Amino acid sequence: MKTDQVLLRGRILSFNAEPQGPEDHAAYRYIEDGAILISSGMIRATGAFDQLSRQAPSVPVADHRPHLLMPGFIDTHIHYPQVQVIASWGAQLLDWLNDYTFPEETRFADPAHAEAMAEWLMAQLCAHGTTTAVAYASVHETSAEAFFTAAARRNMRMIGGKVMMDRNAPEALRDTPQTGYDASKRLIARWHGTGRAGYAITPRFAITSSPEQLEMAGALTAEHPECHVQTHLSENRDEIAYTLSLYPEAPDYLGVYERYGLLGPKTLLGHSIHLEPREIDLLAETGARPVFCPTSNLFLGSGLFDEAGLRARGICNAVATDVGAGTSYSMLQTLNEAYKVLQLQGQKLHPLNAFHWITRGNAVALGLEDRIGTLEPGTEADIVVLDSSATEPMALRMQRAETLSEELFVLQMLGDDRAVAETYVAGLPQKHAVTRAPRPAL
Ligand code: GUN
Ligand code: ZN
Repeated sequence: MKTDQVLLRGRILSFNAEPQGPEDHAAYRYIEDGAILISSGMIRATGAFDQLSRQAPSVPVADHRPHLLMPGFIDTHIHYPQVQVIASWGAQLLDWLNDYTFPEETRFADPAHAEAMAEWLMAQLCAHGTTTAVAYASVHETSAEAFFTAAARRNMRMIGGKVMMDRNAPEALRDTPQTGYDASKRLIARWHGTGRAGYAITPRFAITSSPEQLEMAGALTAEHPECHVQTHLSENRDEIAYTLSLYPEAPDYLGVYERYGLLGPKTLLGHSIHLEPREIDLLAETGARPVFCPTSNLFLGSGLFDEAGLRARGICNAVATDVGAGTSYSMLQTLNEAYKVLQLQGQKLHPLNAFHWITRGNAVALGLEDRIGTLEPGTEADIVVLDSSATEPMALRMQRAETLSEELFVLQMLGDDRAVAETYVAGLPQKHAVTRAPRPAL
């Protein structure tokens, strides 16, 4: 018997397509007494427990009944230097950046601080059932180093990049077109494809990058088509006006990124709320992916993401926390707020679509569905174990739940890290491998 084998037992749910409606049972596989056979960090088989335990009788069983086993959650937009910015009062985007965020990010010049925060972040992601995230580091190369090092320690599939920003920010947070390019290039060489790491070229947004820097970011993108690109787009009306004043030749905000060759199917555009018709056409044409960040958009009062409108144009939308403007690390709480943002626009987020979105849907948005986001054999064994009766309100409501969709909706609206009984990363349990922050003496 190989020692790195394990058979997880529980109720299994995995999607193979985006559900086309509440009755689209062909879009997913649900097995009441199911099992996942894992060896060397990979899923070897998914099926009925009876059958798999007969096939692999000597493999130890981790019995998670009656819980649900699903692919680990994927968070497509998070700022790791903002773990001490989350829950900062009273401002909208530009003031929030200047008053809270930029001062905090200067602290990441200290590698020891960055290492501590990166380690804490990975522990919290695991505690919340998130096994892959796409993160912005600070401007400091060492902060991206710390992020990838902490992810590698847990063998997590993580994507990230140092932000490139050379203007409209404190001196201590500014690189230059050349140093931003060089540091990103070194990080790509060291980390992209190393273990499970992927690099995202990360010009923060048009306001904090000069035309020369966006030119260099575009060059880097052309040189490294294997990397993702991430930035922000049309989050807030003052941001849009400021951007257009800095780039007076641009037809619109997205036109700035278009001009510098930053748009393609590997491009993730945080927020994408207040879009012009030409920008929507351009998203559809280039395949760039808007990222919906509901808790952040409500927290900063930014606006309502038009999910149905963009989807109707064939655009592939991702969903994310955007901590520290986002107010929860939990993708379940993110779905809760997503549901409400869509309600305000007369749109519906059905729980089948919701759970597809934070697993396979986000994997598709990242172009990684052959590796993560499903429980298919041959993919990586990142798995979340969900307890839909984790809290008293959930347990009470679950007494009246009769269908899988009802159960999922309880998790979506009432769930958070307490509903995550375990998180497996590349086949190993991580939920309780928690690094706790020291408690301040107030
Ligand atoms: N736009 C540019 N930087 C940021 C950031 O850190 N958070 C949010 N929400 N929007 C941004
Ligand atoms: Zn962001």
